[in-house]
Amino acid sequence: MITRRNLLTRLGMLGGLGATFGAMQALGLNGAARAATMPGLPSVAGRGLHVAVLGAGISGLVAAYELEQAGYLVTLLEARDRVGGRAWTIRDGDKIEMNGEATQTAKFSNGIYMNAGPARIPSFHTGLLGYCDKFGVPLEVEVNSSRSAYVMAADGTKIRQRTAVNDMRGHIAELLAKALNQGSLDQAISAADKAKLLPFLKFYGDLDDKGDFTGSARSGFAKLPGAGVTLASPGTAMPLDQLLANEQLPMTLFDDVLYMQATMVEPIGGMDRIHAGFDRNLRNPAIRGAEVTRIRHTAKGVDVVYRDKASGAVQTVHADYMVCTIPFAVLKDIDTDFTPATKTAIAGVIYDYSNKIAFESPRFWEKEQIYGGISFVGGPTSLVWYPSAGLHTPRGMLLACYGSGPMAAEFEKRPIVEQIEFARGVVDKLHPGHGGDLVNGIAVNWHKIPYSLGPWPDFSGGKGGVGLEAAIDTPGFRHLLEPDGRVYFASAALSQTPGWQEGGIASAWAQVAALAKRVAADMPVRKAA
Ligand code: ALA
Repeated sequence: MITRRNLLTRLGMLGGLGATFGAMQALGLNGAARAATMPGLPSVAGRGLHVAVLGAGISGLVAAYELEQAGYLVTLLEARDRVGGRAWTIRDGDKIEMNGEATQTAKFSNGIYMNAGPARIPSFHTGLLGYCDKFGVPLEVEVNSSRSAYVMAADGTKIRQRTAVNDMRGHIAELLAKALNQGSLDQAISAADKAKLLPFLKFYGDLDDKGDFTGSARSGFAKLPGAGVTLASPGTAMPLDQLLANEQLPMTLFDDVLYMQATMVEPIGGMDRIHAGFDRNLRNPAIRGAEVTRIRHTAKGVDVVYRDKASGAVQTVHADYMVCTIPFAVLKDIDTDFTPATKTAIAGVIYDYSNKIAFESPRFWEKEQIYGGISFVGGPTSLVWYPSAGLHTPRGMLLACYGSGPMAAEFEKRPIVEQIEFARGVVDKLHPGHGGDLVNGIAVNWHKIPYSLGPWPDFSGGKGGVGLEAAIDTPGFRHLLEPDGRVYFASAALSQTPGWQEGGIASAWAQVAALAKRVAADMPVRKAA
């Protein structure tokens, strides 16, 4: 019998260790492929040293946890009454406080919740998945893409994604096959490759024997297969001009982006289960309601002044070092003695805009055979995102807006009620008659959320063009990667993926490692002193 292990041994004998290792990763037998952990810190790390960590979002929690593991004493300060930062799961009764807006209160029944910030984890974010593993956070599939969902044009015309994908492919394959047969591309392709490409295109586009695309069952059936001789029939091809008229058509490539894989992962019960896992595993859990008002540092240590929001009492933490994860948009207004260059770099981090709107609703979309996934609608609300959890339960949370960038900046200027009604209107256009099913809408405008003031930075300086996963390398960014005296900065904003928790983890690991290296280098001096 060939088991997976002896298959690997055979591959190893054939291809050497490299082949075995690669195959192990492909087969998921190598733990590192599933979950990564922080590389070990110097053995002298920690002893007797106290680090103040500011902010209990993902970066602060990771920094605090790893520093404690390495033997440091950690004081973790968090201004909010909860940990997680932007990883905010809103449940029934939770209050949404936004600058300049009346407080909203979430009304959700039966365990329904909204992940107002991060809501999906790609398979290659092994750092975050590693902590889920470590803290025993149960996960489920997040259906990020479903071909049963729609792309809807501005005029309300909608196409099922499976039709849009397969009919476009059919038309493109037909056109390419015709061009090849007419010899139009003979300068660009060898005769041998052409001979192989033509049959491939027939399969790729589901072309008929004449090389025409007339429709494909891949796009759905005109008549469903039934009992006995009730034969299925494919739908007819949607004309190319109709497909091209839908300006959301490019969104059918959404799940080809590595970050937006068709199936992703979410913690069962809400994203904040991960952050609760960190807090449970800290020797000194985060001090909540601690609003930092002043930061001072010398060659010998750091002083952090914070106000306990519940009592109004002012406290000071003296520590040897600091890891500051406070979002730069917030940090710039805190009284610090950072160097002028650091203050300029902090003030230069411009934050993007992002809005989410959620409703509770009966699951009408499941009656349209939509089980998870996203319909793309364009405009300021951008999408309609269907829940992956609780399939076939009576009610669910429908995300009726998740827009970012300049359009989101304009949209958040509207009154909250108007934002919610706009989102309802779009859902009604997409699913006629169901706008009225949506109840208890809530809107989160991240730029107005205290202690965040934005979803992620835009290192283009507000001009746009530097996306969530683009190459970021500006002088200000580089400056903040270095400590200011004894203060280290850690944040997803200081990674190449500022809109992903994995970026926050990578940054925290890098800064904790830099701090530990310095401590190790200073140790003999400390001993001699
Ligand atoms: N990480 C963010 C998302 O999943 C950008 O949409």
